[in-house]
Amino acid sequence: MSTRPIAITGSTGKLGGRIARRIAETGTPQRLLVRDPSRAPDLPASDAVTASYGDGAAVRAALEGIDTALMVSGSESPDRLDQHRTFVDAAAAAGVRHLVYISFYGATPTATFTLARDHYETEQHIRGTGMAFTFLRDCFYADFMPDLVGDDGVIRGPAGNGRVAVVAQDDIADAATAVLLNPTSRAGQTFSLTGPESLTLYQVAEIVGHETGRTVSYHPETVAEAYESRASFGAPSWQLDAWVSTYTAIAAGEVADVTDDVARLTGHPPISLAQLLRSRPH
Ligand SMILES: NC(=O)c1ccc[n+]([C@@H]2O[C@H](COP(=O)([O-])OP(=O)(O)OC[C@H]3O[C@@H](n4cnc5c(N)ncnc54)[C@H](OP(=O)(O)O)[C@@H]3O)[C@@H](O)[C@H]2O)c1
Repeated sequence: MSTRPIAITGSTGKLGGRIARRIAETGTPQRLLVRDPSRAPDLPASDAVTASYGDGAAVRAALEGIDTALMVSGSESPDRLDQHRTFVDAAAAAGVRHLVYISFYGATPTATFTLARDHYETEQHIRGTGMAFTFLRDCFYADFMPDLVGDDGVIRGPAGNGRVAVVAQDDIADAATAVLLNPTSRAGQTFSLTGPESLTLYQVAEIVGHETGRTVSYHPETVAEAYESRASFGAPSWQLDAWVSTYTAIAAGEVADVTDDVARLTGHPPISLAQLLRSRPH
């Protein structure tokens, strides 16, 4: 195993923070690439350096001397893909040997979930650099399911009776940590990370309601109703498309299939939505 630090992005966020804490627990040195060092987690054997994905010179400087790096996908923005490409090119130029990229389940150029297309393009760009890679294609986060519930206790969206194999961020973090600590054995591989079950949004509503003590229901909208009910937020069209296609991807069955990739990478089964919510204060 390399004694050089592992580079970690996104450590000020939920998923990257979980991964950085796990790496720290192993005593492995890490370099945290952050946009604001004052918000970097305070972890042993870590140093924080400033590097936004869109700042190629900063990323290249930050990744000098790094063999293995984790790239958490950036926050949604109209130019996210350009920022990703800049980050990837800078990583290759800095001499990074292995890039572990947090991608999205079923990333294809024609995926119904519009943001999954960015992930496909990012994967293709990484392949084109010649760096070794591992792609972790995460399904929708189980952690995110309570956020689908409106103030009125209703999940609204055009997901029909479709199913989604939601995955807990803790399981993704375990999987990513396993790959980062032993990247060579996973070079060139793509994993699709899901939870243990595939749920309709009727079931998600029932589980979220039961585990949080609220009355929660699901109202399947039409696509036209979905755009209409979100129009008042004043979001740009690419963002509305992303929000609505979260649900139409579920309706289309594109995020439904359960895999055993979490268990293959971590040695333990993934936790269910109910287990996740039960373990959390609300
Ligand atoms: N599968 C799903 O259901 C799902 C749901 C939501 C999001 N996502 C994707 O998964 C990623 C990780 O999720 P999360 O819950 O950990 O999100 P999060 O808590 O918002 O964290 C995102 C992290 O990425 C960093 N970041 C974002 N854009 C960046 C950029 N341009 N340059 C450098 N750093 C940047 C953020 O830094 P700052 O602290 O400086 O902002 C933060 O550390 C998200 O960024 C998004 O792409 C997936």
